[in-house]
Amino acid sequence: MSHGIVTAAYIVAAIMFILSLAGLSHQESAKRGCYLGIAGMTIALLATVFSQDAHGLGWVILAMIIGGAVGLYQAKKVEMTQMPELIAMLHSFVGLAAVLVGFNSYIYPIDVAYDMHTIHLVEVFLGVFIGAVTFTGSLVAWGKLNGKIASKPLVLPNRHLLNLGALVVSLLLLFWFVGVGGSTFALVVMTIIALAFGYHLVASIGGADMPVVISMLNSYSGWAAAAAGFMLNNDLLIVTGALVGSSGAILSYIMCQAMNRKFLSVIGGGFGSDPVASSSDEAPAGEIQEIKPEAVADMLKNASSVIITPGYGMAVAHAQNAVASLTNKLRAQGVNVRFGIHPVAGRLPGHMNVLLAEAKVPYDIVLEMDEINDDFPETDVVLVIGANDTVNPAAVTDPGSPIAGMPVLHVWEAQNVIVFKRSMKSGYAGVDNPLFYNENTKMCFGDAKATLEEVDKYV
Ligand code: TAP
Repeated sequence: MSHGIVTAAYIVAAIMFILSLAGLSHQESAKRGCYLGIAGMTIALLATVFSQDAHGLGWVILAMIIGGAVGLYQAKKVEMTQMPELIAMLHSFVGLAAVLVGFNSYIYPIDVAYDMHTIHLVEVFLGVFIGAVTFTGSLVAWGKLNGKIASKPLVLPNRHLLNLGALVVSLLLLFWFVGVGGSTFALVVMTIIALAFGYHLVASIGGADMPVVISMLNSYSGWAAAAAGFMLNNDLLIVTGALVGSSGAILSYIMCQAMNRKFLSVIGGGFGSDPVASSSDEAPAGEIQEIKPEAVADMLKNASSVIITPGYGMAVAHAQNAVASLTNKLRAQGVNVRFGIHPVAGRLPGHMNVLLAEAKVPYDIVLEMDEINDDFPETDVVLVIGANDTVNPAAVTDPGSPIAGMPVLHVWEAQNVIVFKRSMKSGYAGVDNPLFYNENTKMCFGDAKATLEEVDKYV
């Protein structure tokens, strides 16, 4: 394929990526967005692999077959609840690829004019740095999401100084690297520092801030890809990387706003998780009250307004169809049923919306937290289904709580609250929940799907 055709194909692919992002911003058009993204990527791959500059076609096709087969198998096998882990793992691949491209491009530099040599060295250095941070950071995020690494923040003494030190030393190494016209020693030392920096950056962020970390790593992986694009002189990689990098940054900002966290504090490695004199060291005390599914059904039949607040447990239990069936029955009996969705409920943005849409719950009764939070005092029954951190009153009442200041669903203001979960265990952030001990709260223990199906029988 000639250069002209490749450039034209890249422009078409870039436009498709932009249209794909636009499609993904609404539930109704998300499928179209996915198809546009797939089409754009296919065009981009074909144009790159068959361009006249490409060499070793056999190797490339072999690598694509192996990689494609592993990817297809993983994507088919993955549970919806494991999606964030998969995404974190894929981000780590982008980071590793940028590191490898950087070293490759340093060892076998592409032909650049003499005055471009310095720019090329800066590209290599920055590409390897961003790639290495993304690589280890994403691996830690993967470990924290699947429970292989504790979600508690790692608090090393002088951790902010350590981060600052890593940045300053890397900057000095950059000057040296460029000053001497390239130094393998400087590049290797910086890579080791960047790997440790990425590990520490994410390890020191507490469980409740993980949503921001994931979208932030998404953004880093975009910048790592853009850096690889500069090193390889590939315009499409630069455009695609910039699209991912900036959309990830915007998503991180939106997440921070939803959780009332400062963006710079979170990416600075958990400034927000500094301990405050706290009453949260003491576990909430008191008696809990249990309730059986039959009694829950009676309460629901006598209610005129019900709000359901789902969380991660609904996804784990695959309870969305049971929830939808119960909702339909209650609505048929004239009960006003609505859903309150917390922005970080579950383990990925929009997690609950996707599950409820899949179970065919009408969009118009699924409301965002801000739209429904004032309605709890006039609500007869709230069903908390596998949610914990997102309905924790300690975020409002306990300034020492690790989730203090995070906006939550004010479920406790309703007349009655029924919590569906299996035990008294805490949620993702590892914080106790005083809601369970309130006088108007009753616990319906068991797997959410099984207990809801039981409730459904009696309604
Ligand atoms: P969580 O606070 O994680 O609580 C989920 C609850 O579901 C647990 O307490 C668990 O209690 C219960 N559960 C698990 N399996 C169950 C089952 N089969 N049946 C019934 N209950 C079950 O959930 P949340 O309120 O949705 O909050 C989300 C948390 O994840 C936040 O801390 C958020 O910061 C974090 N996070 C979110 C994201 C995004 S982007 N959404 C990404 C990463 C992290 P039992 O074990 O007792 O059953």
